[in-house]
Amino acid sequence: MANILPPPSKTRYLTVPDTAAKKDSLKQFSVDEVKQHNKEDDLWIIIDSAVYDLSKFVDLHPGGAHVLLQVAGQDATEAFFGMHRSEVLTKYGRYLIGTISGQKPVHILPTPGTLSPVPYAEPMWLAEGYKSPYYNDSHRRLQKYIREFNDEFVRPDAQLHELDGKRPTPELIRKMGDLKINHMRLGPNKFLHGLDLPGGIKGEDYDYFHELVVTQEFSRCGARGYMDGFQGGMVIGLPPVMNFGSKKIQEEVIPEVLAGRKWISLAVTEAFAGSDVAGLRTTATKSEDGKYYVLNGTKKWITK
Ligand SMILES: Cc1cc2nc3c(=O)[nH]c(=O)nc-3n(C[C@H](O)[C@H](O)[C@H](O)COP(=O)(O)OP(=O)(O)OC[C@H]3O[C@@H](n4cnc5c(N)ncnc54)[C@H](O)[C@@H]3O)c2cc1C
Ligand code: HEM
Ligand code: HEM
Repeated sequence: MANILPPPSKTRYLTVPDTAAKKDSLKQFSVDEVKQHNKEDDLWIIIDSAVYDLSKFVDLHPGGAHVLLQVAGQDATEAFFGMHRSEVLTKYGRYLIGTISGQKPVHILPTPGTLSPVPYAEPMWLAEGYKSPYYNDSHRRLQKYIREFNDEFVRPDAQLHELDGKRPTPELIRKMGDLKINHMRLGPNKFLHGLDLPGGIKGEDYDYFHELVVTQEFSRCGARGYMDGFQGGMVIGLPPVMNFGSKKIQEEVIPEVLAGRKWISLAVTEAFAGSDVAGLRTTATKSEDGKYYVLNGTKKWITK
């Protein structure tokens, strides 16, 4: 029978002992060695084949010192995962000192930039063994770059502000301006020409599948409300300026908005006109001296 399964995965899902940057120089210990370190001032434990020296952490442990003393020198994998989110290990990776020789980690730790092993959690083109004519190496490089950026910077900001109802942190949007990520939210356009974009992409080569990658990756921050305020106004507000603005307006508005220093919105919808754009009631009339437009009316549902 023909083998219908895709080839074995070459994707590396990072696991617990990979958390510290020092992973290549990690020492190997035996279970018996760890057993010797079972006192309050010399306390090691094993979690998922990794060895942690908690001697300096015992008194700081939010769950108390006594629980750690109960498992001092032992394998505390089950107790640990029963009471903590796995991310705790990433945060406290500094206590990792080695691994147990001959043991392999079984728990998967979400580490910035990695692919999810959960079935259907990733688009098909990222799965090993599948080929797509639409995505090339440049899309893969960009996907990896944005995944890391999203995991490290956007997701924490999104989770925080989804709860407190505040807008994305302005510094984050400015950082995205510096890295030219804002620029990539608007699809291929002439304002990208001459730019070196993340993932080693030339502005001229930027295509709609690159934009799709960026949009899909950011949607992984898991915060639907936050995402609308995450440059949603720019994504729909800047194209009219790019396509129809005078040169003067373009020069004034586009660089500032892309740099994350100014916000822009597209104000079409009104209380009495949504789909029916011809029914707009807001008026713009020239001031008597001809210098300004005087706006009158109401707008509604305008995304910033
Ligand atoms: C989260 C959010 C953010 C938004 N951000 C912005 C923004 O930044 N800027 C902005 O300008 N607007 C924004 N909008 C408004 C949005 O664009 C309008 O909701 C949209 O234009 C539809 O208008 P409406 O809600 O008044 O619905 P209506 O126009 O009242 O439509 C109601 C229903 O009737 C149907 N319908 C309407 N006309 C016809 C027709 N001629 N034939 C057949 N069916 C029809 C529609 O499909 C719809 O199902 C936002 C809306 C939301 C929910
Ligand atoms: C590397 C080892 C460990 C670290 C870094 C650690 C860290 C933490 C942190 C940060 C918390 C606060 C809650 C949270 O953020 O999830 C916590 C709570 C707790 N921990 Fe640990 N811990 C470790 C090992 C253990 C072990 C081995 C046990 C049990 C034997 C344990 C028992 C508890 C308990 C009971 C709580 C309180 C849970 C609650 O109030 O809901 N911890 N720990
Ligand atoms: C006694 C008369 C009225 C009262 C007491 C009243 C009260 C209100 C209140 C309290 C709101 C705020 C709603 C909210 O925050 O959710 C509101 C919104 C609004 N009202 Fe009125 N109103 C009256 C008449 C009118 C009339 C006659 C019109 C139009 C001709 C009108 C148009 C609107 C519009 C467009 C909004 C904004 C709706 C939105 O943002 O969703 N109102 N009104």
